Amino acid sequence: MERFSYKDGNLYCEETPLRDVAGKVGTPAYVYSAQSIRDHCRWIEGAFGDVPHLSYYAVKANSNPEVLKIIASQDLGADVGSIGELKLALDAGFPPSKITFSGVGKNDREIAAGIEAGIRAFIVESEEELRIIGLISRNLGKTARVLLRLNFDIEAGAHPYTSTGHRHAKFGLEPAQAEAIASTAHSLDGIDIIGVHSHIGSQIIDEPSFVRVAKALVEFSRRLIPMGIRLQQINCGGGFGVQYKDYLLHPDLPAERSHAESSVATTKLIGAILPILRTAGCTVAIQPGRSVVAHAGVLLAKILYRKQTGGKTFLIADAGMNDLLRPSLYQSYHQIVPLELTGRGHEVADIVGPLCESGDYLALDRTIPVMKRGDYLAVMCTGAYGFVLSSNYNGRARPAEVLVDGRSFTVVTPRESLGHIFAKERMSES
Ligand code: LLP
Repeated sequence: MERFSYKDGNLYCEETPLRDVAGKVGTPAYVYSAQSIRDHCRWIEGAFGDVPHLSYYAVKANSNPEVLKIIASQDLGADVGSIGELKLALDAGFPPSKITFSGVGKNDREIAAGIEAGIRAFIVESEEELRIIGLISRNLGKTARVLLRLNFDIEAGAHPYTSTGHRHAKFGLEPAQAEAIASTAHSLDGIDIIGVHSHIGSQIIDEPSFVRVAKALVEFSRRLIPMGIRLQQINCGGGFGVQYKDYLLHPDLPAERSHAESSVATTKLIGAILPILRTAGCTVAIQPGRSVVAHAGVLLAKILYRKQTGGKTFLIADAGMNDLLRPSLYQSYHQIVPLELTGRGHEVADIVGPLCESGDYLALDRTIPVMKRGDYLAVMCTGAYGFVLSSNYNGRARPAEVLVDGRSFTVVTPRESLGHIFAKERMSES
């Protein structure tokens, strides 16, 4: 069931007309569908059937406290990448036993906080990190559980900035290194190696790459058994790609047909790795971020101006790269649709933001329904890595965040005020 759809030519989120949200809250604003988040949690959980498992939601994808509370209420765990995300996850109600701590550069304070909170495990990326975790946990009189993150040199075709599984990436341990570390570390006080982990990148739609990493993890985990390590968890990371093109289909919208993404489904990808991972005989874990929240969010913006220059048509929106960085940083595609279908036909335009950079755009050379000054638009599938990557660049306030549940909506993050930005600047100067 799609939670964003047109009714009588107006775009709705669940039972709420987005025009009403834009009118009352203003733009730019991120809008999330609570039902869509619940749907995605349910689909992901359902894909495991009766296999003992744990899905740790990657908090970095969308760390809005109300979004986190919904995900915690669906019985998922959380994967955090900083002390800030750890606090957000605990505040949202994720039990520490369902929290993992990832990241190549955890500092001492973050490690201590994770140990004191009693999290399920740290995902360890280097020998030095493992040594420091052991040291800190012994000082605290505790034992830290860890998973070893493996780098199997798997190139899965993601954008270079979001590919993490190739051998030149900063992430993970080479299998031979990990084996050597495991054989010496598992007997150390303060460390309990409870499993293996790998995460090959983000927005991966290539099923064979997931199958390769699942097989490599199972094969590696078998090498730990003779060392006396009792495996509790095999964690295949996140990275499950989602469909961005043609997300909304309507006779009045231009379609970008026959794209590889259109057949991708998280449940199918989980279905491909599950039979392999379960042969390890322990809890199967994943760390999905994008696939939980991407489809649950849109960014609302308003057209400020139309402009023709250099033989091109530009639509200048009130949202730009400080609100949504993905097009500028990764050349990512997001479908752009008007909140109201007016039957004015289509045109090819660049939809750009108001910031002083040529790289500030939402879409280039895009066929879209004709829009004019004052019209509202929605940038689709922006629930993941949207607001979390926003900034105050160009002295701009960060956008509002709104949560829709059925017929009602709540502003869960008010739009930043200019006073807020300047107060922050004064604080950092003092
Ligand atoms: N686990 C680890 C260790 C990660 O580093 C990540 C994402 C995930 C899980 C979740 O991956 P997902 O299921 O969301 O693909 N800003 C980029 C994406 C960066 C992903 C960073 N790590 C973007 O907007 O595409």
